[in-house]
Amino acid sequence: MTAPLSISLHVNGESIVVQVLPRLNLADFLREQLKLTGTHIGCEHGVCGACTVRVDGEIVRSCLILAAQADGAEVETIEGLSDNGEIADLQAAFRDRNALQCGFCTPGMLIAAQDLLTREAEPDRTRIREHLSGNYCRCTGYQAIIDAVEATARARRERKP
Ligand code: FES
Ligand code: FES
Repeated sequence: MTAPLSISLHVNGESIVVQVLPRLNLADFLREQLKLTGTHIGCEHGVCGACTVRVDGEIVRSCLILAAQADGAEVETIEGLSDNGEIADLQAAFRDRNALQCGFCTPGMLIAAQDLLTREAEPDRTRIREHLSGNYCRCTGYQAIIDAVEATARARRERKP
C-alpha cells in the first residue's frame, strides 16, 4: 500500500496539515476526512457539478482533483461560503424562488452561480444558463434557478452605490 503524504492547505480560511493517501480525491477528502459533507458527490467523473468547490479562487470539480494536488492551496466549500455570509443573498433567492427541491445539486449550483456573479454584474438568462450548464439538477427544471440567479444579480446591482 502506498504511504500517506503530508499536505498543508487552507480550508475555509483555516490552516491545516494532514496526511492523505496519494489516490484520495479532494471530494472524498473534504467529506470523509474533514466531515465537510456539503460538497456532494454524484457522478464521480466530472459531469454533474455536485462536487464543485473553489480552489485558489477558481471553481473546480473536486472529484477530479487529488487531495494531494491541493497542497498549498486555498480551498473554499459551501460551508465556508455560507458561514462567512458571502452568498447569503443568493441562498435567500434560492429559497424564495423555490430553486431547490431535494437540495442535492444546490451547493454546487450556488458556488457556480456565485462564480458567475463575481465575474459579471449583468449576466442575461442565456449567460446564466450557459455558466450553470455543467451543474445538473434533476428536480427543478432549472427555470427557478435561473430566476434566483438573475434576481440576485439585479439586487446586487441596485445595492451598488
Ligand atoms: S461528482 Fe464531481 S462532477 Fe459529479
Ligand atoms: S434540487 Fe434536486 S437535484 Fe437539484
